[in-house]
Amino acid sequence: MLTVALPKGRIAKETLEIFEQIFGSQFAFDDRKLILETENFRFLLVRNQDVATYVHRQAADIGVVGLDTLEEQGLDVVRLLDLRKGVCKVAIGMKKGEKLDLTKPELKVATKMVNITKRYFEQRAVSVDIIKLYGSIELAPLVGLADMIVDIVETGTTMKQNGLEVVEDIMESSTYLIANKNSYIAKKDEILSIYEKIRDVVKNG
Ligand code: PRP
Repeated sequence: MLTVALPKGRIAKETLEIFEQIFGSQFAFDDRKLILETENFRFLLVRNQDVATYVHRQAADIGVVGLDTLEEQGLDVVRLLDLRKGVCKVAIGMKKGEKLDLTKPELKVATKMVNITKRYFEQRAVSVDIIKLYGSIELAPLVGLADMIVDIVETGTTMKQNGLEVVEDIMESSTYLIANKNSYIAKKDEILSIYEKIRDVVKNG
């Protein structure tokens, strides 16, 4: 039996569809239930930011989560497979027409991804004032809260509609299948078996 942590929303739905394709039966959570038990799997419905925590602490053996979230959280888990879903990038955005000038002192950067942001500017030896926000990041430069943002860009629509544009890409991201390090040893056969099946589905589109 493998316990699988899935992030609530589109990715959970798409992952369950992969399982349906593999096993030819229905995989769906009942109404508001957070656990779905099948013959060989127990699925947990958790918040996206909590997936790696469940896996890292072995409350789940495997999970599905975005690379951006993994990089931000830095939890030690095995990255098994790029599912090539939820493709997006983490980028720096500024008001349209403005240029990124890293020599300017006291740059203010708004983001929900504090660690990725910190690392990016540290690597360039630039000291910045990072302002942690929890959402609607695009608003910050518009009202003078920040000079720029570091945020997820998927279609680019949110930035565009708010008069911002990407001035620099930081990283590409997509959804990954991850595993707990101990589970990966103790349940190696089970994990490799589902890994291979998922890999084949992903490979064949
Ligand atoms: C994310 C991100 C951007 C938006 C990008 O926000 O923070 O705001 O999606 O998508 P787009 O490039 O396709 O427009 P999310 O929807 O997670 O909401 P949040 O701002 O409340 O975190």
